[in-house]
Formats: sequence, structure tokens, C-alpha cells
Amino acid sequence: MSNVVNLSSDRSRSSSAFEDLHRLVAADLAAVDQTIIDRMASPVPLIPQLAGYLVSSGGKRLRPMLTLAAAQLCAAEGDRQVRLAACVEFIHTATLLHDDVVDESDLRRGKASANAVWGNQASVLVGDFLLSRAFQLMVADGSLRILEILSHASAVIAEGEVLQLTTANDTETDEAAYLQVIESKTARLFAAACQIGAVIPGRPMAEEKALEQFGLNLGIAFQLIDDVLDYSAKQEKLGKTVGDDFHEGKITLPVILAYRRGTDEERTFWRRVMEDLDQAEDGADLAHAQALMIRHGSLDDTVKRARHYGDRARDALAIFPESAVKTALSEIVEFCIERAY
Ligand code: IPE
Ligand code: IPE
Ligand code: MG
Ligand code: MG
Repeated sequence: MSNVVNLSSDRSRSSSAFEDLHRLVAADLAAVDQTIIDRMASPVPLIPQLAGYLVSSGGKRLRPMLTLAAAQLCAAEGDRQVRLAACVEFIHTATLLHDDVVDESDLRRGKASANAVWGNQASVLVGDFLLSRAFQLMVADGSLRILEILSHASAVIAEGEVLQLTTANDTETDEAAYLQVIESKTARLFAAACQIGAVIPGRPMAEEKALEQFGLNLGIAFQLIDDVLDYSAKQEKLGKTVGDDFHEGKITLPVILAYRRGTDEERTFWRRVMEDLDQAEDGADLAHAQALMIRHGSLDDTVKRARHYGDRARDALAIFPESAVKTALSEIVEFCIERAY
């Protein structure tokens, strides 16, 4: 697992890439957080209580950072990007609330997930509330084009999550179907978050498209790595339960590659654990799955795929003149690949 484990020197470089981007958007990002807090308010106390619990437990705020950075790259003035970045984070937060119910996850951002604390009903409904707040922010902004882009992303995320339900527990799922899932459930929001940075100041379509492609490819790389981390991360650092995908029988690329490269006996193992969800309680099956992934290089190769999409993301920025924010965006690709959380 050389690529997956021996990342420490690259990793310090990548965390400084995150800090560089963070520094460039820090003032606006503080305003985004304030907007989020203001717009979480509701006379129904459980809503700010549950939403505030998740929001205050951290999160990288990567998607709103992308919106703010893309807007900076496109020389946007004023503060529309602050409200729209908050809107992007609201969509993301709503998705996480729903996703943890669907995935039955009990750890998120290093704490008990909202569904583990308040139950599925409250999580789903507060997720609906946050999504609706996102739409109110878009309406307040007034751009139909932005409403079009973000409402499309929001619908596609839901499609991706539903499509994923239909590929779960199916070891015949191929890489193309998997890519469609991750493009929908994750990369579309990254794409939209970046694209709107060009729409706000009314930049030419070529710049909109370039930022959309940057975000889309970055998002694919991001989810590929997320799916590696589900098997290889340090749980305390990740803040999510390692092995969640395995326990659910989620068919991610590390599984697809190990299954396709495996012997008949190994495939029988994969069908038992992923299709029948017949898994040893003591973690022995998860450990065996991890060993098979190492044997067949399927984690390393998933990282390689992520690098390919990362390169495509960087190349999409070529049309923009050199600037500090362009450099930071280009380096955030490395963060998304080397990240441990
Ligand atoms: C988690 O996204 C959901 C995925 C797309 C894998 P992040 O890893 O960006 O989550 P937070 O917001 O930083 O917690
Ligand atoms: C990430 O899905 C995408 C969405 C939340 C829509 P995952 O289920 O892979 O993400 P984590 O691992 O729960 O963050
Ligand atoms: Mg999940
Ligand atoms: Mg995951």
C-alpha cells in the first residue's frame, strides 16, 4: 500500500495547500459561517440545535472555499459569493444529514452523527429544512442562472444517492457505473460550487466551463480518495468510521478492482461479504478485504485514478492568468489526493 500509507511528506505539503487556500478566502469564509448561523435560525428549537451541532463540529468547508476562490479568480466584487457559498455548504450539510441516515453511519466529523443522537426522523427533516434554506438564499440572490446550476446539482446528488442504492451489494457493478455514482453524488456539487464563481461577475462561458470542469474532476478525485480512506484511514483523523462502506456492502472502486483481479475463491468471499452481508463480527472479514486490496493493488490504483482526475482538474485552470488564487486552487488538488481526513 505504498501510495496509501507513505504519504507523510506529501501530506504536510498538502495540508499547507489547504492553509494557503484558506488564508486567501479567510475573511469571506468567516462571513459565510456567520450567514450559516443566521440562516439556521428557526422558532422550532430542535432545528438550530441539530443543525448547529453538525455545523459547529467542524468540517473542512471545502466547497464554500471553492466558491469564494473561484469568485476571486474571476475578480468578483461585492458579497454575493458569501451568501452563495453559504448556500453551497447548506446543500452539502443537508446531504450529510440524509446520507448518514441512508448509510446508518454513527460517526461524523469526529462526533456521534446527528441521526445517532436525535434519530433518523429529525435528521431527515432538518436536512429538508437546510436544503430549503439553501433555495431561499438562491432566490434572495436573484440569479436564475445560479438557481439553475445549483438546483441541477441538488437533483443530481439525490439521483446519485439513489443510483448508489441500486448498485449496493452488486459485485458485478463496473467502474463506469461507479463513476456515474460518484460524479453525481459528489462531483456535481464541487462543479457547481466552482462554476458559480464565474457566473457571479458575469464572466464569459469559457471561464464558467473551465471552472465547472475543474470542480467536476476535483470532486471525482475527492470521492475516489474518500473511498480509499474508508479502508485505509486512521479513524480518529478521518472522523468517520473506517469500514462503513464494507459493512454496508457499498461497491466502491477498491472493491471493484479487487473483485475483478481476484481468484474464484476470493470472489466467493466478496460475494459473501458484499452481497449477503455475511460478515464476521470480530473484524476478520474487513481485515481480509483490506489484505486482498493490498495484494491486488486496488487501493494504490484507486489513488492513481484520483491523480488522473486531479491532473484534469489542474489542466482546466489553464485559461486563467497566473495569480495567487490560481496557484492555491491548483494546489488544493494535491490536498484532496493526499488528505487523511
Ligand atoms: C464528505 O465530504 C462527503 C463526501 C463527499 C465524501 P467532506 O469530506 O468534504 O466533509 P466535511 O464537510 O469536511 O465534513
Ligand atoms: C458522499 O457519500 C456523498 C454524499 C454525502 C452525497 P459517502 O457516503 O461516500 O460519504 P461519507 O463517507 O458518508 O462521508
Ligand atoms: Mg455515507
Ligand atoms: Mg465514504
